[in-house]
Amino acid sequence: ISGARADHETPRPAVIAHRGASALAPENTLLAVDRAHRLGFTWVENDVQRTKDGVLVVLHDAGLARTTNVEQVFPGRAPWRVRDFTSAEIARLDAGSWFGRRFRGARVPTLRQYLARVDRNRQSLLLEIKNPAFYPGIAPQVLAELRRSGWLDRAHLKRLVIQSFDAPTVRTVHRLRPAVRTAVLGAPSVARLREYARFADQINPRHLGLTVGYVAAVQRLRGPHGRPVEVCAWTVDRPVDTLIAATYGVDCLITNRPDVVRRALSVF
Ligand code: G3P
Ligand code: CA
Repeated sequence: ISGARADHETPRPAVIAHRGASALAPENTLLAVDRAHRLGFTWVENDVQRTKDGVLVVLHDAGLARTTNVEQVFPGRAPWRVRDFTSAEIARLDAGSWFGRRFRGARVPTLRQYLARVDRNRQSLLLEIKNPAFYPGIAPQVLAELRRSGWLDRAHLKRLVIQSFDAPTVRTVHRLRPAVRTAVLGAPSVARLREYARFADQINPRHLGLTVGYVAAVQRLRGPHGRPVEVCAWTVDRPVDTLIAATYGVDCLITNRPDVVRRALSVF
């Protein structure tokens, strides 16, 4: 993620604020994006899913209960799945109070609102298509929304990576929009890396269990855009893990605590 290297950031690895600066503000809300921005972080990660009426919203869990007050607002609607609620219903929910009283009133953003805020902040986006099996056709829908918001314009492409745990979804994104950079989440076997490198610019594994050999095996390959495939490790929140991953030579660190990781990298 060369675009991550703004002057105020440690050159390598790049730091990506996971679900926004999600240890400091409620995850996947505009507050978390703004918090990352105020701390000087260019890249934010988010998760996108779809409501019952087909609107793309930014939320991590398949259900609304952990990060909103849905149980109070809609007590009879268990298990409170995103896909069972309309966008108007979700817009009524408080997505901030669970994290702290001062965040009361934060909303679950639509992808459109989220893109507008990231763009306004001049930030860059690692966008995860979450649970695609629940949402047939979500990959082309996400691409259509990105196009509508100008994120697929040539000048903007360096500010975007689309990722998923579901490799076929990543392959679909690449097939539909070959210019967009993509990432497969997880750690495919070394034997399969070459196949993945045909459609993924990054392989993004959990940091636990990562080895220097695996990082090197990924980075030896050329991705679909002719550059070495990158490794972005997640979710790295502790200084010790930051230093281990940096020593392994990862290209980026995805973290809930970008402030902590930046501080740790400053001594690296
Ligand atoms: O970007 C890496 C990370 O977000 C993947 O896991 O569950 O936090 O979406 P998860
Ligand atoms: Ca994610």
